[in-house]
Amino acid sequence: MRKPVRIAPSILAADFATLGAEVAAIDKAGADYIHVDIMDGHFVPNISFGPAVTKSLRSYTDKPFDCHLMISPVDPFIPEFVDAGADIITLHQEAGAHLHRSIQLVKSHGKKVGVSLNPATPASTLEHVMDEIDLVLVMSVNPGFGGQTFISSQLDKIRTLRAMIDETGRDIDLEVDGGINETTAPLVIEAGADLLVAGSAAFKGGPEQYAANINRILGRS
Ligand code: DX5
Ligand code: ZN
Repeated sequence: MRKPVRIAPSILAADFATLGAEVAAIDKAGADYIHVDIMDGHFVPNISFGPAVTKSLRSYTDKPFDCHLMISPVDPFIPEFVDAGADIITLHQEAGAHLHRSIQLVKSHGKKVGVSLNPATPASTLEHVMDEIDLVLVMSVNPGFGGQTFISSQLDKIRTLRAMIDETGRDIDLEVDGGINETTAPLVIEAGADLLVAGSAAFKGGPEQYAANINRILGRS
């Protein structure tokens, strides 16, 4: 049975000068998860913020923190994001040589674990960890920046992963990140996604627009 589609707005597109208020506003507007993009200037060509800022935002919402770690190495920082209040820790398949070990490390802290795939990485790389993970994150742009154009070749990958997830019979979120808006959301939902990340489309127009933005992306208006 398919879960209802949920939304994880990415605070990368929020006003960094007022991040606490932005998190509270997007929560109130209907966010299911808060998507927290962590970039290191090494794994991806941009720097966002780290565990200290993440921790400082924790008191502004009770919604789960969906931490997307675009960092390499990732293992040394997992305890810091646990301490910062992450509920889901998603790391990249491409971030290191020992994906299974990184997954076990997140699980050893009692947190949900996700694995993200860059656009060129095939779904099959997750075949032997499907029984270990709670979330798959398909990147529909090359990670590093908000506001990029959706890469439509990822739709086939989403379909493949939908089938792989269904085959496990386990409760695994299928999340898509990058270029999601009212035009692309129906495509990824049709392909099998049940959790949508949206940065620029969710945060455009300022706080008074956030609820309308979310409804539009989810096709509720
Ligand atoms: C990209 C990040 C995304 C980004 C999405 O590297 O992982 O979460 O903020 O932004 P939009 O929705 O604007 O493509
Ligand atoms: Zn992200």
